[in-house]
Amino acid sequence: MSDITDEGTSFDAAKFRQVLGHFPTGVTVITAMEGGKPVGFAVGSFASLSLAPPQVLLCAGKSSSTWPKIEAAGSFCVNILADDQEDVCRVFASKAEDKFAEIGWKHSGNGAPIINGVLAYVDCTIGDVVESGDHFVVIGVVDDLDVMHEGGPLLFFRGGYGRFAL
Ligand SMILES: Cc1cc2nc3c(=O)[nH]c(=O)nc-3n(C[C@H](O)[C@H](O)[C@H](O)COP(=O)(O)O)c2cc1C
Repeated sequence: MSDITDEGTSFDAAKFRQVLGHFPTGVTVITAMEGGKPVGFAVGSFASLSLAPPQVLLCAGKSSSTWPKIEAAGSFCVNILADDQEDVCRVFASKAEDKFAEIGWKHSGNGAPIINGVLAYVDCTIGDVVESGDHFVVIGVVDDLDVMHEGGPLLFFRGGYGRFAL
């Protein structure tokens, strides 16, 4: 069994992914403008962090090619995907050259893309960025936010997509 962390760890990467995949998440796309071009990547590690002051957080993998562009922009927009946006999620979870080629969007207040059809958006200025393991924990200071429509959320659970049902 191949260990993924410190010596003596009793599990491998597959087990880590399998167990953590039992925690369901929503799906967001983190967007920004870089050199006049829209950029973005799919993120499930988004969470509300603080009300006073208003802050959110997400974790960006060190292998992400988009995160350094967003960090350079200094601000970003969190797009909370609706349950009919699995195709949008797949585009932004890819390494495609121009992920916005077939995506409709408009500028948020801080200039980042708000993708058509999202449930809600949260416009942020980048606060602290903390390096930990193979990710950066990114704190976003909230500048503006709004609900766009009252649909259901896209969910991710055990490696597959689903919808919320009461
Ligand atoms: C449902 C889902 C959730 C994801 N969550 C994260 C995340 O929280 N952080 C992250 O860095 N990548 C996450 N990813 C993976 C990135 O979207 C993926 O690695 C993407 O290719 C990165 O593209 P980039 O190289 O353009 O940044 C997630 C992917 C999916 C499908």
